[in-house]
Amino acid sequence: MSKITVIGAGNVGATCADVIASRELADELVLLDIKKGIAEGKSIDIMQTAALREFNTRVTGVTDDYAATEGSDLVVITSGIPRKPGMTREELIGTNAGIVKSVTENVLKHSPKAILVVISNPMDTMTYLTVKTSSLPANRIIGMGGTLDSARFKYYLSRALNVPASELQGFVIGGHGDTTMIPLIRFAAYNGIPVSELLTPETAAQVVADTMKGGATLTALLGTSAWYAPGAACASLVESVLRDQKRVLPCCVSLNGEYGQSDIALGVPVVLGKNGWEKIIDYKLDASEQAAFNKSADAVRSMNKVLAEMKVV
Ligand code: APR
Repeated sequence: MSKITVIGAGNVGATCADVIASRELADELVLLDIKKGIAEGKSIDIMQTAALREFNTRVTGVTDDYAATEGSDLVVITSGIPRKPGMTREELIGTNAGIVKSVTENVLKHSPKAILVVISNPMDTMTYLTVKTSSLPANRIIGMGGTLDSARFKYYLSRALNVPASELQGFVIGGHGDTTMIPLIRFAAYNGIPVSELLTPETAAQVVADTMKGGATLTALLGTSAWYAPGAACASLVESVLRDQKRVLPCCVSLNGEYGQSDIALGVPVVLGKNGWEKIIDYKLDASEQAAFNKSADAVRSMNKVLAEMKVV
């Protein structure tokens, strides 16, 4: 019997719940939101697809009732506010840090053994906050960014190569922001063939650039951030943990000297299993990739500094 809680029943949270339920990754899923009725309504809507899509996961929605989340094996945190026009980065971090911190405290009161998946933005900073303030073992805190960015990387590669995205291998590491992520084009492959043998340098550079602005492109089109790919990326990660699949997916995790960085949470490839992230895969970066990773760490660290200035960590 496994139980998942998803905090935040907005676009991303509800889509995570929908994909998790339809793939029967848990027996029970609780959707929680602070806004009255929204989680209840979305969970009933999802449950009314069960007869059509033939799944047995039981989804229930609650308004801010953490008792209902009792004994969750895994909790996905999507609660927060999106950045609004005129809002500074500091204001966004301040508001979402308050939300993520209080949500985590409430969650852990009822599910002290849970694995936490952090999606709220700025995701690298929210993951770092959770590592610093929750007193959980670091391997039980997983930031969901790299899995999504890597899926977008494969989408752009698949278009450039005219092959199915599922036939491609490719990792995005570093921060989740559009200037901090690093699509590792040198390691990307089509069934083992390096994509550098199949694409011109110009096309490869375009794929990297498109991947980096992948989220922003959708925000401009939709007027808010995307949800289908974030929901599916979250479900892949959840599946590897709950089914102990030991898949390697890029996730934001606490670094302790790996990739030359410490006291930071940043995207690297990790093995995901029943203990959370179980191992960091150490790619041998070349000098320019390592320089990009260090630059990404500097940018994320400057955002993390806001937490210390606000005395949240
Ligand atoms: N407790 C529970 N739910 C909360 C809280 C809280 N303290 N504060 C806000 N929420 C809920 C809101 O009521 C809303 O329903 O979080 C939900 C957020 O949903 P959306 O505004 O639709 O945002 P969404 O697009 O789902 O994105 C959620 O994921 O990708 C990131 O940048 C994105 O940080 C954002 C998060």
